[in-house]
Amino acid sequence: MSSRVLTAVAWPYANGPRHIGHVSGFGVPSDVFSRYQRMAGNRVLMVSGTDEHGTPIQVQADAEGLTARQLADKYNRVIVEDLQGLGLGYDLFTRTTTSVHYEVVQDLFLALYNNGYVVAKTAMGAISPSTGRTLPDRYVEGTCPICGYDGARGDQCDNCGNQLDPADLINPRSKINGETPKFVETEHFFLDLPAFAESLGSWLTTRSDWRPNVIKFATNLVNDLKPRAITRDLDWGVPIPLDGWREQSMKRLYVWFDAVIGYLSASVEWARRGPDRDAWKQWWCDPEATGYYFMGKDNIVFHSVIWPALLLGQNGAGDKGGEPGVFGTLNLPNEIVSSEFLTMSGSKFSTSRGTVIYVGDFLKEFGPDALRYFISVAGPENQDTDFTWDEFVRRTNFELANEWGNLVNRSISMAHKNVGAVPKPIAPTDADHELLAVSRAGFDTVGDLLARSRFKQALGEAMRVIGSANKYLSDQEPWKRKDDPERRDTILHTALQVVQDANTLLTPFMPHAAQKVHNALGGSGVWAAQPEIRQVDDLGDGPGYPVLMGDYAGEQAAWASSPIEVGRPLDKPSPLFGKLDPKLGETGPEWAPIQTS
Ligand code: MF3
Ligand code: ZN
Repeated sequence: MSSRVLTAVAWPYANGPRHIGHVSGFGVPSDVFSRYQRMAGNRVLMVSGTDEHGTPIQVQADAEGLTARQLADKYNRVIVEDLQGLGLGYDLFTRTTTSVHYEVVQDLFLALYNNGYVVAKTAMGAISPSTGRTLPDRYVEGTCPICGYDGARGDQCDNCGNQLDPADLINPRSKINGETPKFVETEHFFLDLPAFAESLGSWLTTRSDWRPNVIKFATNLVNDLKPRAITRDLDWGVPIPLDGWREQSMKRLYVWFDAVIGYLSASVEWARRGPDRDAWKQWWCDPEATGYYFMGKDNIVFHSVIWPALLLGQNGAGDKGGEPGVFGTLNLPNEIVSSEFLTMSGSKFSTSRGTVIYVGDFLKEFGPDALRYFISVAGPENQDTDFTWDEFVRRTNFELANEWGNLVNRSISMAHKNVGAVPKPIAPTDADHELLAVSRAGFDTVGDLLARSRFKQALGEAMRVIGSANKYLSDQEPWKRKDDPERRDTILHTALQVVQDANTLLTPFMPHAAQKVHNALGGSGVWAAQPEIRQVDDLGDGPGYPVLMGDYAGEQAAWASSPIEVGRPLDKPSPLFGKLDPKLGETGPEWAPIQTS
């Protein structure tokens, strides 16, 4: 039976091009997962977009001399192109500056407000004594009260990564003119997190299948919940939908509050762009549907605690009860799939330290599938992992070119040369049956691992099938069977069948290469569908924007072994993966040279 699977992918900030650390956390894993689910016959809704509000955007806009809106427009486009180039199959990749997003965020806020889960309170905000104007968090700098770092900002410390409040800083000063800010009382809305202690706690005890680090982390947080401000003194964000607040230009909803609601708003937007504007409910309101959330580990708190709390509050199911809001009763996350960090020479990828490998540059030189393969097989799935060019070269040359590329190439070339088509098997032997059994068994093994987001193991199992097939060819030596064409044809038929099976197993990881292999095996039409960039109108009165969407229902790839068609004409194949110059492993490419110091 086909089930509905929501793939909710963390929203990248539109404050710069994405580097390979970003896409190894949220991007590639979520796409491999979704492609597998679609191939297995499930109905996937994969949504995300660029995260465009708040401090992260404003800081970079200031640095580039642009308005926040201009900056968001600029990087939204770059990111859409990067993700499309990588072949990430979103049903909708949108942005947080759309009319639908504003509407959904405000409706969700109101549901929480009506149920009593958001309350106004006074807090201390910074103002500039010389101008009397509000100093947004990012313009207050000082010493971090947690780690002692002197350049901490009012919203967070870049050294230890903790979220801060400007009033927490030791020796606070204005970044604009160095003066000491004055702290005055300012009103904000707070999410009453303690009012979810029981409901969140008992929900967490039902999450037995989460990765242990995630469940431990979330449980610790739930044992110590404090109210959290969900508004900021800021002019770039979603307005607060209440009289007396809506009009205030320096009060907006906090960026994280609006961003997590993006999963819902993007689903609603997707539905409104299709034939049934309520279609999103099949993934959100039917308890049989499952939701999988993909992100880097620095996002766990927002997905394992804050977002579930917002959903419980909207549903009227927090400790204070209440009524479901306009969305009805919404599903909480089933799985939180978080990655660790991809580092380069030991430091977390950071633009400021100059050790950065941008997705766009990478794609231009090496194409998408070598990167997708590398991230899947050697990425930070379970622990922080160092990216090295040396390992990238080694895996591309030995695993992709020698193992997989070579199996495809020699099987098809021999069949092309000797028969010109897929040969007919005459009398299969035990060796043939054994190999076919190995590749057939791969569908269960690899599929089971993919359904549980065990990407490394899954890919390892798929590559094992390829290893067996290469060994089979060396043992059977079809190239020495000139005198026994029947045996030769049987071997080649077996090899081609296994190439086709292995290609199916590899499709979620390397959909572009899979399409090529499909064609090289004489197939036609779309094997693995790819996302497209479409320019769409805003559904309210905002400006149009580019989105990623795709026609994935039309692809042929299905998670099963299908018999290869005897007699299908075969052309001479072209190499699947080019080999990289081993020197690249020592120097890195020109645009990201290895720094020796
Ligand atoms: N923009 C955030 C980051 O890059 C992630 C937001 S995920 C969200 O860390 F869905 F919650 F928005
Ligand atoms: Zn710190």
